[in-house]
Amino acid sequence: MNKRSSEFLWGASTSAFQVEGAYNIDGKELSIADVRSFKNSEKQLDTKVSVDHYHHLEEDVSLMKELGLKSYRFSISWPRIFPKGDEKNPNKKGLEFYHKLIDLLIKSGIEPIITMYHFDQPYQLIEKYGGWVSRDSIHDFVKYAECLFEEFAGKVKYWLTINEQAVLVVAPDMLGIESNLSREEKLERAYQSNYHMWIAQAIVYKLFRQKYPQNFIGPAVSYLTTLPATMNSEDMLAAKELEDFYSFSQMEVALKGKIPKYFEKELENNNVYVVQEPEDEKTLSEGTANYLGVNWYCTTIVESKAEKCNGVIFERIKRVNNDHLKHTDWGWNFDPVGLRYGLRQLADRYGDIPIIITECGWSEKEELQNERVHDNDRIKYLGEHITQMELAISDGVNVISFNPWSFIDLLSVGDGMEKRYGMVYVDRTDFDEKTMKRYRKDSFFFYQDIIKQHKNLDNQKENNGD
Ligand code: BG6
Repeated sequence: MNKRSSEFLWGASTSAFQVEGAYNIDGKELSIADVRSFKNSEKQLDTKVSVDHYHHLEEDVSLMKELGLKSYRFSISWPRIFPKGDEKNPNKKGLEFYHKLIDLLIKSGIEPIITMYHFDQPYQLIEKYGGWVSRDSIHDFVKYAECLFEEFAGKVKYWLTINEQAVLVVAPDMLGIESNLSREEKLERAYQSNYHMWIAQAIVYKLFRQKYPQNFIGPAVSYLTTLPATMNSEDMLAAKELEDFYSFSQMEVALKGKIPKYFEKELENNNVYVVQEPEDEKTLSEGTANYLGVNWYCTTIVESKAEKCNGVIFERIKRVNNDHLKHTDWGWNFDPVGLRYGLRQLADRYGDIPIIITECGWSEKEELQNERVHDNDRIKYLGEHITQMELAISDGVNVISFNPWSFIDLLSVGDGMEKRYGMVYVDRTDFDEKTMKRYRKDSFFFYQDIIKQHKNLDNQKENNGD
């Protein structure tokens, strides 16, 4: 670690609909994430109770404290604050819940990191005007953001606007875009929504940075570090095109305030036309982020299919397995060096910009054995990714915080309760709430130790006057 280590934020991450439950309590109404999860209620856990963090707040924060966390990245449920999305005044009970969480964190010496929107737009905005596809959504998001700043910016320094915007666009049903539409209609609506999110985010960046210049605000980008399957230049170009279009376009807009030419060309080539207003260019250039959140799980390997297919970049590539890499049961690779490589690319592009790793994690099917979970693969994953992150820091990358996914077992977006990510085990399955008790997994003690070791290192340095 370099000299910044004493302020380094060792954290962990979750999101509201994946942990809270209490889906219709204290005034909260449905989000699109709720509605999507109910469609799968027969197959897996849905958001109704989830791991019931809403009713385990004190217990969960006290586990965070015991783990030694210096930061906790969580999201605020948009429909807890504005249940329908378009009310004039916020829901007091919703605000109270997050005040309580934030106060508990601060009292425990844990820096809160707020995500404002993690896949859960109020469903009634989708019924009212189609959600993000409508320009009206910009106004409603900005109003929501202003309300959060007013309430919490006095005590919360680190903010994230939108989680994984690129994922929402490639899985448009997460935006409430009907799956029975034609491919062309889906593309058009998804990229129009993407555009509106960019404008909304830019307005929010500008507002926030004018009012709270000492604080940090940025996006949480899904960073798909992409490698070519061969040294063939076609495959190398395909890897670059996917990474640029999917991840770097999001970073460029947030950090530089300009939509890259390659992004616009890709849409034009596919006859996707996004409605824009004359003032938008200025709005984008005036509202930029001052730090970057990255969700990083693994590298992706691709080969080009450009000779056989045209269409958008996702249709012009084929994902390839790397038989040399271990992967989860769901096919996510174990490639820690890829993290160092990815972080180096970020520093090449964005220099000294502070970077927060907002997600990074390993999933498993797990069961309690004598009140323990021996999650050795997660320990290996965490250990090696932390080593590679530290190497990247020593290479000069300005990483200021590491928040693995996830602090506690939660509802996986794709696979319910079967796919677990937590360092804390929750005694429940998809269809049985069981005791809902929390158990520390082996990874909990491992990570606790890492945080302690770094603290000792910091103390030693201070004593040596380094
Ligand atoms: C990230 C999301 O894309 O991936 C999380 O921000 C999500 O919300 C995580 O849980 C893992 O995906 P999944 O489908 O395994 O839950």
